[in-house]
Amino acid sequence: MIGEVLPGSARVAITGVGAKAPDRIVTNHDLAELVETNDEWVVERTGIRERRFAAEGEALSDYAIPAARIALAQAGLEGTDIDLIIVCTLTPDMVFPCTAALVGDAIGAKNAAAYDLSAGCTGFVYGIAQAYGMIASGLASRALVIGGDLLSKILDMHDRGTVVLFGDGCGAVVLEKVAKGGFLGFELGADGAGGKDLFMPGGGSRIPATHASIDRGDHLIHMNGREVFKFATRILVASAEHTLARCGVTIADVDVYIPHQANMRIIEYAVGKLGIPQEKVVINVDRFGNTSGGSIPLALADAQAAGRLHDGDLVLMTGMGTGLTWGSALIEWNGTGEGR
Ligand code: UT7
Repeated sequence: MIGEVLPGSARVAITGVGAKAPDRIVTNHDLAELVETNDEWVVERTGIRERRFAAEGEALSDYAIPAARIALAQAGLEGTDIDLIIVCTLTPDMVFPCTAALVGDAIGAKNAAAYDLSAGCTGFVYGIAQAYGMIASGLASRALVIGGDLLSKILDMHDRGTVVLFGDGCGAVVLEKVAKGGFLGFELGADGAGGKDLFMPGGGSRIPATHASIDRGDHLIHMNGREVFKFATRILVASAEHTLARCGVTIADVDVYIPHQANMRIIEYAVGKLGIPQEKVVINVDRFGNTSGGSIPLALADAQAAGRLHDGDLVLMTGMGTGLTWGSALIEWNGTGEGR
């Protein structure tokens, strides 16, 4: 599914950004006490130096709610102004009710439509595309899209192939109609044949929780890292190129590139193939690892905090992850919400 925003469609922009990650920093040296690994290997193969892990008993909404409040304050809005909440995550507080409804209750968005969206590390891009469509069509007026995961809760702490990659964090954005700029186009896609390369087998209807499923590790992340790596390098480039082409712009027009923060080598490959200058690329994988749904919104918040997002800038985001899914969004930044 790919398309540029149709001429004459409503303009919809991101007018508020917020983020919240756990305080606890876990270094590669800390992980080397759990599995046979070392800082040099992890830094060289992934670029990750540290990540955040939530505390025992904490859940996604403990991060989603503060991130949402920051995004709302930046947009100058109250919870009551929001009529759509999408939480993009693999690690909701619980299977049901959806975390989005819990967030809605906490921020006072009492009657907002609320649901969780499962598209892994691509979730946030799927979420903003859906919110865009709802607002542009008039079904919603102001949306809160939250991307976040507490992957430490489903990590196999004995698997060195995954434990060094993933971390916890959450970001939130407010979307609303504006007169200038806003989203220019999206691409979303999925290839279910690759589902076997990154999955958690237990906890759904196929393998409900039993003592045996817990003993087998069915409620933890399983990953074929090499296959995901191949997919990631191919799709980050292809999805970005398709999106830019459909929107009638080139990579030279892009001011800020926010790739999924999976692995520094994957990002470097995409940056090289796309031919985008390093100074336009937002990177925080070294500090957060891969936070799945939180990856792109955390990087967006970092870019904003660093003063790297200016009204009129073209911002390209591309995600990829379990599914296997992928997605890109191109937006002309209008963070001040001019014309809303
Ligand atoms: O959102 C998408 C989420 N998933 C991803 O982004 C994952 C994409 N894949 C990757 O990032 C990489 O495949 C990994 C970082 C997971 C692995 O890096 P690699 O360069 O593909 O390593 P490899 O799997 O080819 O393994 C090379 C060696 C193996 O040892 P042998 O068989 O050559 O003796 C592994 O057992 O490195 C070993 N190894 C480790 N050594 C130290 C694997 N993990 C570790 C580790 N520390 N943490």
